[in-house]
Amino acid sequence: MSTKPPCRLCGHALEEFVSFGQQPTANAFLEPSDFDSESFCRLAVGICGACAMVQLIDEVPNEQMFHKEYPFRTSGSAGARAHFEQTAQWLLDTKLTDDRSFVIEIGANDGAMLGFVQKAGVRHLGIEPCGDLADICESKGIQVLNAYFDESTARRVAEKHGLADVIFSANTVSHISYLDSVFRGAEALLKPDGLLIFEDPYLVDIVAKTSFDLIYDEHLYFFTAGSVRDAVARYGLTLVDVQRISLHGGEVRYIVAREGAHQPTAALSGLLEAERAARVTERGTLERFAARVSERKTALVGLLQDLAAQGKRVAGYGATAKSTTVLNYCGIGPELVSFICDNTPGKQGRFTPGSHIPVRSPEAFANPYPDYALLFAWNHQEEVMANEKAFADAGGKWILYVPEVTIA
Ligand code: TMP
Ligand code: ZN
Repeated sequence: MSTKPPCRLCGHALEEFVSFGQQPTANAFLEPSDFDSESFCRLAVGICGACAMVQLIDEVPNEQMFHKEYPFRTSGSAGARAHFEQTAQWLLDTKLTDDRSFVIEIGANDGAMLGFVQKAGVRHLGIEPCGDLADICESKGIQVLNAYFDESTARRVAEKHGLADVIFSANTVSHISYLDSVFRGAEALLKPDGLLIFEDPYLVDIVAKTSFDLIYDEHLYFFTAGSVRDAVARYGLTLVDVQRISLHGGEVRYIVAREGAHQPTAALSGLLEAERAARVTERGTLERFAARVSERKTALVGLLQDLAAQGKRVAGYGATAKSTTVLNYCGIGPELVSFICDNTPGKQGRFTPGSHIPVRSPEAFANPYPDYALLFAWNHQEEVMANEKAFADAGGKWILYVPEVTIA
């Protein structure tokens, strides 16, 4: 008899609703000498029958994903650079307003947000477990601690630097298995009226767009306002506000305070109501999502096979972590997508995890242009298509697979 794995938050059984089989580490871009030693883990998602937190069934150890060669750079897109400049400005204008203000960022990446705080001369600390990224922050003059964030890190930081007005985090809280320790850490590190503010991909958008490629090893949790509200309440914290964000195909920024310190907003009740109306955590909704995932695979592989049969050359655009799920789930290799171009130095010259497609610099895209470009960085569609207007002008066609497989 197989036992169902437990929810990481409440211990109740998880109900699996979609599986992508064995998957390699999503951001582990390879040298050919690594091909034989790749490690794989089953990628499947379930929902907790008690607390409705949607989460991966299995997990890859942190040290295998977040280490000194972690390649993703937040500053790799103009959209993200603009978003984090606006975020820093918003924090500086509304939350970090006196000369004792102190902001902490969990998962500072390359300092895309904290760089602006540092320039404004406001006290800050980035907490970043990936050594290469911590080095980049330091080279920009950003205060940084090379560590994973948990309760013990939080207590260490509180002792050394004092309590924070804001703990900010983007695309990181959903990556951390031990959320209990994160929330206890936030509770220990915030001033009495301090705020924990974090933004992550939104389950409602993933289901609405069937953007199944946001499911990969790093994304352990798929939050909703409802699941975050219930999760933080266990630690003396209250979800008080939410903001919708367009980055990464649709995210929500959650604003969390100590119980009783801030009043919940109308935006929060509005989003909770919309989630109830969308029935996003109901079994039927999630099963229909899984059925659409499978149809998407059939449509995408069918199109690529037709193009290959016609002798068309297809390249990929953006060696995203998302592409690892698409390529491995659909069984797409170099015979269907000859190379993928990407502007990240740490990915160029390497090969995609599991599917072993070469990654080249963006200059390779035009030498010569392929007939079709499969847009793995679909969340940056406007920016990429504007930058690569000459491709379309030369007769090149874009292939999109979110929210449907289409040729543009
Ligand atoms: P993301 O979807 O997780 O933000 O990753 C986007 C990837 O695409 C990242 O590796 C950078 C790359 N990229 C390009 O190569 N060219 C571009 O114009 C953009 C916007 C992104
Ligand atoms: Zn649970």
